[in-house]
Amino acid sequence: MLPRHRPPVPALGIPARVSQFFCPEDTRPLARCRAHTSPMELPPTSLKGKMPRPYSEIPGNWKTSWFNLYFFWKDGGFHNVHSMMVRNFQQFGPIYREKLGIYESINIIDPEDAAVLFKHEGMYPERLTVPPWAAYRDFRNKPYGVLLKNGEGWRQDRLVLNKEALSLQTIDNFVPLLNEVGEDFVKRVYIQIRSSAHGRWTADLTNELFRFALESVCNVLYGTRLGLLQDFIDPENQQFIDAITLMFHSTSPMLYIPPGLLRRINSKTWQNHVKAWDTIFQHADKCIQNMYRDLRLNRKSAKEYMGILSRLLLQDKLPIENIKASITEMMAGGVDTTSITLQWAMYELARAPAMQEQLRSEVFAAKAASQGDVLKMVKSVPLLKAAIKEVLRYGFVLREQTPLSSLLSLTQGSIQ
Ligand code: HEM
Repeated sequence: MLPRHRPPVPALGIPARVSQFFCPEDTRPLARCRAHTSPMELPPTSLKGKMPRPYSEIPGNWKTSWFNLYFFWKDGGFHNVHSMMVRNFQQFGPIYREKLGIYESINIIDPEDAAVLFKHEGMYPERLTVPPWAAYRDFRNKPYGVLLKNGEGWRQDRLVLNKEALSLQTIDNFVPLLNEVGEDFVKRVYIQIRSSAHGRWTADLTNELFRFALESVCNVLYGTRLGLLQDFIDPENQQFIDAITLMFHSTSPMLYIPPGLLRRINSKTWQNHVKAWDTIFQHADKCIQNMYRDLRLNRKSAKEYMGILSRLLLQDKLPIENIKASITEMMAGGVDTTSITLQWAMYELARAPAMQEQLRSEVFAAKAASQGDVLKMVKSVPLLKAAIKEVLRYGFVLREQTPLSSLLSLTQGSIQ
């Protein structure tokens, strides 16, 4: 499923202006240029005290883009991207420039260097362009959402969204919605354990966590349940889920091959991409209509929290089409990022039974003290939060070039 094939889109890299480090002697726009940071353990050489150098002097194999793309695919493509990065950092140093087909990136390994970059971003950081996503919006004449926008337009939308998606007052509203899904997930795990021959959880972990993340994100965004944690899934929701998977799958090749070219030759990849986004946008339309209908029929009160989409619509600060664009982009950015993080957390915990015990004790103590107040409970689990942060800091490092799926076979440890 998705995480095994997912291209390095939105949430896993850091788009930014690298011209802060390198004099823009080469003044072409950096819109397609992306800076990735990586926590891998290689000897860093900090930028501190160093003189800026021209952009064209960034080391790396960026002159032979199509040749690079050929070797990228030949070398295992996305499955092996981590070991290719390690190799490149070893060869070119802590910052290197790369071009694969049309996709250009600057890769940074030292966290201090990444911090310098962030500090210099300014009011309008260079936003990431995901060419196929932008191409779909251009094709259907739809506006860009917050992930694809740049400059003042990005800032305006982002300020509205910050209030509804990131502010401390709002995020408390997410907790009951997320808790509902979390409880269903745990019930599902117990059912699966009971029905397995050996009394163990032998489900496809990647797939289960992907379902869990999608169900959670959609509940917060659209205020509706997709029913992904049941064995029977409503066919319309199944179409939506398939569309998300298809959207990501058809994104990867178009990161390196111009979507315009694939569109002109009407390739299957382009057709699939359009079909997938069409379905995703139709789903957003349906949610909007349902919400308006419920409000008109007084089935829901405007005061009741029904998710980010409904709040943005009721607030009326952004045009509906812009809201839809940003909601679908939040959905695209929020699913595999969270499910992969959980998968790594489980991997790390499987190898650290003592930490599992400490976390379990903390959760039980918080549950007892909060007496059913989930908000209070969430605020009293510092170790759990620290564990997730640590996984985010550390967890994307693949050791010994082992595929994640085999690392997760849990033979070396187990979640108790
Ligand atoms: C562990 C989970 C997550 C990780 C590791 C992660 C990571 C990131 C990173 C590194 C960026 C780029 C930031 C930048 O451009 O400077 C980003 C952007 C973004 N993420 Fe996430 N993310 C996660 C979860 C989510 C969730 C749950 C959502 C939505 C519900 C989401 C939606 C977005 C959006 C819309 C952007 C673009 C923001 C903008 O351009 O203004 N992400 N994420």
